[in-house]
Amino acid sequence: MKVTAVLLAAGQGTRMKSSLPKVLHPLCGKPMVWHVIEALKPATTEKPVVVIGHGAGQVKKYLGDTADCVLQEPQLGTGHAAMQAESSLKNKTDIVIVTYADMPLLRGETFKRLAETQRLNPGPFSLLTVTSDDPRGFGRILRNPDGTVSAIVEEYVATPEQQKIKELNVGAYCFKAGWLWDALHRIPKNPKKGEYYLTDVVELAVKENLPVQAVLHDDFSETIGINTRVHLSEAEAAMRARINREHMLNGVSMMNPGSTYIDVGVKIGKDTTIMPNTYLQGDTEIGEGNVIGPNTIIRDSRIGNRCRVLASVLEGALLEDDVDMGPFARLRKGAHLKSRVHMGNFGEVKDSTLGEGVKMGHFSYIGNAKIGANTNIGAGAITANYDGERKLPTEIGEDVFIGVDTMLVAPLKLGDGAQTGAGAIVTKNVAEDTLVVGMPARAIKKLERKRKKGK
Ligand code: UD1
Ligand code: CA
Repeated sequence: MKVTAVLLAAGQGTRMKSSLPKVLHPLCGKPMVWHVIEALKPATTEKPVVVIGHGAGQVKKYLGDTADCVLQEPQLGTGHAAMQAESSLKNKTDIVIVTYADMPLLRGETFKRLAETQRLNPGPFSLLTVTSDDPRGFGRILRNPDGTVSAIVEEYVATPEQQKIKELNVGAYCFKAGWLWDALHRIPKNPKKGEYYLTDVVELAVKENLPVQAVLHDDFSETIGINTRVHLSEAEAAMRARINREHMLNGVSMMNPGSTYIDVGVKIGKDTTIMPNTYLQGDTEIGEGNVIGPNTIIRDSRIGNRCRVLASVLEGALLEDDVDMGPFARLRKGAHLKSRVHMGNFGEVKDSTLGEGVKMGHFSYIGNAKIGANTNIGAGAITANYDGERKLPTEIGEDVFIGVDTMLVAPLKLGDGAQTGAGAIVTKNVAEDTLVVGMPARAIKKLERKRKKGK
C-alpha cells in the first residue's frame, strides 16, 4: 500500500509580514516545513509532494530532493492547491495524506493514527479534529444527530451558533487517492472568496452517503497552526518544551528548562546538566556527565564526557573528555581541545589543536596552531598568524612553557620543552629544551618626578 503526503505550502502567509516565505520560518533550528515533512515520515511510504507558490523559488531550493514540488499559480484555495498534486501522483499512490505546512507540531504518531483510521474506514477519507475553547480561527466540525461528520464551516462564514462549536478542523486528512482526485474537481467555488476549499470535500462525501471518519485528538498543543509571528513564538515554545522534556526523560538534567534552548536533533548523553540560558544549536552532540552553562552558546560542535563549559561560546569546535573551559572563552571553527585541556577566561582558539592537558588560563589567542601535550600558555600569549594576506601556522611541542605576553610570529616552530620569557617576541624557530627571551625593557632616560602640592 503506497501512502504519500501532500503538503500545502503555496499561501502567501500575509499575516507573518515577512519577505521570507512562511514555511521557511524556523522553529528550534529548522524551518516549519522541515518539521511537517519529518512528522509525516512514519505514516508514509513515498517521497512527499509539496505544493509551492509564494516564494516558490526559495522553498524549492530549501527542499532540494527531500520532496517533489508542484507549483500552484495562482493560489485559489486549499482545494485548488491539493489538486495540483494530481498530475504527479495519479495512479502512483493508494492513499494520500493532505496537510498544511504551517502546522509544525503535529507528531508522527498522530499522522500514523489518522492513516490507521482510514485503513479501517470503508469511506473515502478520515480527518483529524480537536476540541478547544480557543478556536483560533479554525474551521468548525458539524455533526449529524447520529454523530457522523456532516460538514466543516470556516469561521468567517459560521453562524453565531456554529461559532460556539468546540470541535475544530485541525487540517490533516487521509484520503483514498482515486476518490480524492475526482472529488477535487467537484469542489464548488466558494461564493464569498472565489476560492476552492479543501474542507468542502466533506459535503461531497456526505452527499454520496459515504462515511467520513473523524479522529478526535486530545493534545491541542500539537495542533498550533502558524499564521502570525505570535503563533510562531507560541509554537516554538511548545516545541522547545517537547524537546527539553525528551532530553530530561533520557537522563539529562536542566535547572530551568524554560530558559534552555535546544535545537531539534541535538544529542545529549545521560547525567549531563544543562544550566540556564544555554543554547545548543545546529549539528551538536554532547556526551555524558558534562556541566554546560549557564550563559553558553554551543553551535555545530562535539563535546566528549565530563567536560565543564561555563559562560562560553563554541562554534564548530571539538572537545574531548574532561575539558574545563570558561568563563568567557570562545572557540571558533576547527578548535580541537584534547582531553584535560584547561582554558580559562577571555581566550580564543580557532583552527587549532590543543594537546592533552594543555593549560591556557587567561587572555590568549591561538589561531592555526598545533600545541603538544601539557604545554602551558601564559596569560596574554598571542599567535600572530596573519600577515595581511595569508594565515600562517605555528607548531608548539610538548611540555613547552610560553611566558606571559609572548608574541609567536608565524610561521613558527617551538621544539618540545622549549620556554619563552615574559614579553618575548619570537620570530625564529626555537630548538628543543631551549629558553628564549626578547626585548627586555631598558632605561632610556632619567625622569624628573613632579611632586604633588602639599607634599
Ligand atoms: C485552514 C482550514 C481550516 C482549518 C485550518 C487549520 C481550509 C479552507 N481551511 O484554514 O478549516 O481549521 O486550516 O490550520 O482549508 N495554501 C495553499 N494554497 C492556497 C491557499 C492555502 O497552498 O491557495 C496553503 C497555505 O500555504 C497554508 C495552508 O494551505 O500552509 C492553509 O492555508 P491557510 O490560509 O493558513 O488556511 P486557514 O485559514 O488556516
Ligand atoms: Ca493556517
